[in-house]
Amino acid sequence: MILYNEQNRTLTLHTQRTTYQMKADRRGVLLHLYYGPRVEEADLSGLLQYADRGFSPNPSGSGEDRTYSLDTLPQEYSTCGVGDFRLHSAEVEQADGSLLLDLRYAGHAILPGKYALEGLPAFFGEGWETLSVTLRDPCSGVEAELLYGVDEADDLITRAVRLTNRGTEPVALCRVMSLCLDFNRADLDFVTFNGGHVKERHLDRAPLRPGEQSVGSVRGTSSHQHNPFVILCEHDAGEDHGVCYGAALLYSGNFLAAAERSQFDDARLVMGIHPYHFRWTLDPRESFTAPEAALVCSPDGLTPMTHRFHRAIREKLIRDPYGGKRRPVLINNWEATEFHFDEEKLVAIAREGAALGMELFVMDDGWFGKRDSDFSGLGDWTVNEKKLPGGLEALAPRIRELGMQFGIWVEPEMVSEDSELYRAHPDWALGAPHRPQTQGRSQLVLDFSRQEVRDHIYAALRQVLDSAKAAYVKWDMNRSLTDVWSAAIPAGRQGEVYHRYVLGVYDLLERFRRDYPDLLIEGCSGGGGRFDAGMLYYTPQIWCSDNTDAIDRLRIQCGTTFCYPVSSVGAHVSAVPNGQTGRYTPMETRGVAAMCGTFGYEMDLGKCTDEEKEVVREQVRTFKKRAVLIHQGDYYRLTDPFRNTAYAAWAHVSTDKREALVSLVTGSTTAALPFIVLRLRGLDPDLRYRIDGGERVCGGAALMHAGISFPLIPGDYQARQVYLTAVE
Ligand code: GLA
Repeated sequence: MILYNEQNRTLTLHTQRTTYQMKADRRGVLLHLYYGPRVEEADLSGLLQYADRGFSPNPSGSGEDRTYSLDTLPQEYSTCGVGDFRLHSAEVEQADGSLLLDLRYAGHAILPGKYALEGLPAFFGEGWETLSVTLRDPCSGVEAELLYGVDEADDLITRAVRLTNRGTEPVALCRVMSLCLDFNRADLDFVTFNGGHVKERHLDRAPLRPGEQSVGSVRGTSSHQHNPFVILCEHDAGEDHGVCYGAALLYSGNFLAAAERSQFDDARLVMGIHPYHFRWTLDPRESFTAPEAALVCSPDGLTPMTHRFHRAIREKLIRDPYGGKRRPVLINNWEATEFHFDEEKLVAIAREGAALGMELFVMDDGWFGKRDSDFSGLGDWTVNEKKLPGGLEALAPRIRELGMQFGIWVEPEMVSEDSELYRAHPDWALGAPHRPQTQGRSQLVLDFSRQEVRDHIYAALRQVLDSAKAAYVKWDMNRSLTDVWSAAIPAGRQGEVYHRYVLGVYDLLERFRRDYPDLLIEGCSGGGGRFDAGMLYYTPQIWCSDNTDAIDRLRIQCGTTFCYPVSSVGAHVSAVPNGQTGRYTPMETRGVAAMCGTFGYEMDLGKCTDEEKEVVREQVRTFKKRAVLIHQGDYYRLTDPFRNTAYAAWAHVSTDKREALVSLVTGSTTAALPFIVLRLRGLDPDLRYRIDGGERVCGGAALMHAGISFPLIPGDYQARQVYLTAVE
């Protein structure tokens, strides 16, 4: 519900459990009053404090009153160079060359439904209301439209910003944040998700320090190193208590998420496109739209925050061709063969998979052009006939005859120097003239800011999809951007290329979605280098990490699922010793870890023993039975794998609480093992649950407060699952 109080000029956004309030004050400055657990006050401006603070300047016209300063008041969208020295939301080079921006309230509109952002990912669906607030710079033609989407049921508030040049001369945008959120407190922890390739999204939590602290990416993608999802929470906030604020940016390129604890112990969070190399020229009457950010405030801990993001992303962001139904269990040949395969080898892997219940065969890298290693071939999306003499037209039907769907790997944004495409169009790769390009995985990045480049790739990939009648595509992206310079953009506007590249990627993905509505696209960037809410709008699942080690995955997947739903997390069982870590883990354990995700296999099943195959067959059966519970249910962390390496546990509980699947994986073993008692979460205290379909029945309250004990589990890296059903 969005309310405007005319007398006080306050705007209040209510969701079921939270309230957000702002006020246009007597000077027209849009002040932020509150965001937190739901309150009913129409005007919280009594919270504002006015004091004469040294070196906090006063707006012109203040006369002798030195108590009003943009530097001390909480701002809804902070400005630049006119008195607020904290984190800026926008910075504009005006026509006169000044870097000054002042924004004052000029009006607002409350609209039914959710706003849309052309060319950008955004939440959608039923039950939304939109608030649009217009702010104007009194001294230039720059206008800002602050957009708020309010999803009352899911406690979600989205934000986006549109800047328009209503002047007569061009201006340049140097910084446009999507989100600015002020707090009249600084006793908060900043939680971020960090790592690198094969070590994505490890949680870090630290109290806000004085000054700025930030994570971000200048790699052209959202990156393995940091994630555009952050949390601010009370110091003692845990899974079930404490106020938490989660903020996700729906963007897949350079981003900045910065928090500042300022001199008077208040705090500000900003989030948006990273200002690194960003400079966007706005000609008169042109607009620039910054990507959407999504906020969830949970009054009672991290778990409800996670659940709200999961539900909203699943139901109001991901456009799933399976419409929430179970997606196929896949087998991918990459870790089995890498580049070295032929048609018979692939069919053999698929046949083994089909016999064990798998439903989709994915042919990974190496099937096209001159692609026997990662030094050549990218960009030439025609079949390598040495490996596949009959082409996709021969292979794909053979897979389908096995009762499986056919899926294929592509890396549309890339080109190898050793390729027909590069020889024909060297200027299609990003790179400045007279400067050698930096290589990444021995490949260059195609200039996706250019329509003709995207059109060419689109036409080539259409042929691939059509000839294979593919049901699935793995859309990979295997390097960071460097040498970001486009031959199609004039010298003074090169600061637009990073963002235009992302818009280009979104444009192409959207075309595929439109023309192949039944196609399941799995995002990927060397595993989880582009795992963000922006990509999930186009690709319902994303390969979570190139690290398939079951034990490392416990942390990677736990970090990922703080925001992103289990159904979006690409997870496979692979062979041992693991390619990344050299570790041996039992097949059972690898299965349990992969079941906290999309679930599939990535190995040569022909090399498995009969006993292992039996385990696999049983795993596939179990996953199929439990997939709806795992993917549509509520996910509960039962341990913290970043602190507890002795064992990790989690549970999936159906929304009606009548069914639950508890998973436990132990770490490396020791003598004198501790007893493991898990206190479950999320059950109905008044229901009684049958354990593993047997005779044992236990009350929900007992399972949650007293717990469930696991008999001693000797050996390294063991796994157990317990399935609970409510007794009638
Ligand atoms: C990336 C992906 C892998 C695999 C290889 C193929 O690293 O993350 O899963 O597809 O590329 O080259």
